[in-house]
Amino acid sequence: MPITTGAHSLPIVSMRGITKSFPNVLANDDINFDIFESEIHALLGENGAGKSTLMKILYGFYREDSGEILQRNKPISIKSPQDARNYQIGMVFQDFTQIPAFSVLENIALFLPDLQPVYKQKEVEERITELAERYGLHVDPYTIVSKLSIGEQQKVEILKLLLSDARLLILDEPTRVLAPHEVEALFEVLDNLRKDGYAIVIITHKFKEVFACSDRITVLREGRVADTMLRTEANEKILIRMMFAKELPELQAVQKIDHKTEDVPVLKLTNIETFSEGNTVSLKKINLEIFPGEIVGVAGVSGNGQKELGDVILGMEKSVVGEKLLFGKDFTNRAIREIRRSGVGFIPENPLLMATTPFMTVLENMVLTNTDRYSRHGGLKIDWQAVKTDYQMTQEELGFTFPFYSMPKSLSGGNLQKMVIVREMTHDPRLLIALYITRGLDAQSTIAVHRALLQSCENGAGVLLISEDLEELFALSDRLIVLFKGEIVDTFQPSETTMYKVGHLMTGALGS
Ligand SMILES: Nc1ncnc2c1ncn2[C@@H]1O[C@H](COP(=O)(O)OP(=O)(O)OP(=O)(O)O)[C@@H](O)[C@H]1O
Ligand SMILES: [Mg+2]
Repeated sequence: MPITTGAHSLPIVSMRGITKSFPNVLANDDINFDIFESEIHALLGENGAGKSTLMKILYGFYREDSGEILQRNKPISIKSPQDARNYQIGMVFQDFTQIPAFSVLENIALFLPDLQPVYKQKEVEERITELAERYGLHVDPYTIVSKLSIGEQQKVEILKLLLSDARLLILDEPTRVLAPHEVEALFEVLDNLRKDGYAIVIITHKFKEVFACSDRITVLREGRVADTMLRTEANEKILIRMMFAKELPELQAVQKIDHKTEDVPVLKLTNIETFSEGNTVSLKKINLEIFPGEIVGVAGVSGNGQKELGDVILGMEKSVVGEKLLFGKDFTNRAIREIRRSGVGFIPENPLLMATTPFMTVLENMVLTNTDRYSRHGGLKIDWQAVKTDYQMTQEELGFTFPFYSMPKSLSGGNLQKMVIVREMTHDPRLLIALYITRGLDAQSTIAVHRALLQSCENGAGVLLISEDLEELFALSDRLIVLFKGEIVDTFQPSETTMYKVGHLMTGALGS
């Protein structure tokens, strides 16, 4: 694919001297950012660097304190997303805004700028099909959105933008929730769009993705531009140094204790089955043991029973058949509270929805799952000083720096994930159920979390590591299971198999 040298042409949009502060944070500090037609511009930076804020300003979601935005060299004023759309700027947020009970077509129609009160369904269908064909965005217009995978929902979001005539597309961490094959498909779509002159901004934490798709790269550090360069001038080392102002340590494999199979397993599931109506997956005959000091990796494309597996262990979902032992004791169908008290930590799939209460501060959220531990005077008072001391220690160990007195919604995406990690790891769980634990984390924090997982194993904990990131699973797991349609289709030692084989099993492409 040709390397575009947009530097010689006029940017379609320029952000000049953009500054934006929130209480106590200067999120964007005098930022210049140019976006060119026929280019994919990757926006990088550690968690909290100001990437989402900058793009939300461009989409009219926030107003800049100072600075200006130019379109083809003419100043424009973007006061709302509506203004942004009028300037042909569209954004796909991390949390999509689709109406689950409506069809794809209805969801898209609602967003059309020229929609008449009575619209011709057939006409909208034709417009969808034409664009879907052209860019490889195949989805059935009549499917109900709640039945689509995340990858398909994302296609609907992109179709929505294209049909609303956007020419500049902003994608905030679009690959965060995608399986590897969906990432490839997305990049093909983006490549086709680029060839047709679209301008694209993509935010990601994965260097591989930056090199796979971008033409130009801008790195933010602490709200300022560290540098902008062409992809051809960049390599991973340069980018890391720019993002973190230092080199990152390699993940050193901690010398792990040899777990003995005669130890009592921290988790033992025997013939567990769940029954779920509707769209969710039922688990079938799950047999699984995790011993102290062991990381068992679960490979699978999200939606194949991972959430159900986590929920069944935590007690959020009941099993209809089978037995669950924790630390040698029967916990089948016992309450969540008892299970947590016994020493189970849980990182859910979607921390914002599942693990936080938005109107409480970060510190208050920390106590949510641990009220017993910190209540004094018969539950009348919470010992906030003790709360702070405990969680601060974990935060420091992991090298995280999010504020304790903010509301969760004012944390950056990665920092929200870190809040839940700190909460769940502080009290040294004996069993940690971790779903997509490093999603949205920058490279430095990912290494810190990997080390912490290895460390807690060394201290005798067992970890169920559910992830779509095969590199992560292969680097950390003692044993790997592959989950497909609610069943364990294979079990491996990572050294006995390859990512290629596991990747195929995950998508049902190989029989076992
Ligand atoms: N609505 C808000 N209220 C208060 N502070 C905010 C708000 N939105 C963002 N911030 C703060 O601004 C800074 C930049 O946040 P931003 O979301 O832009 O980071 P980011 O680079 O997108 O990080 P991540 O990689 O974690 O998504 C952070 O310190 C964040 O806490
Ligand atoms: Mg962000």
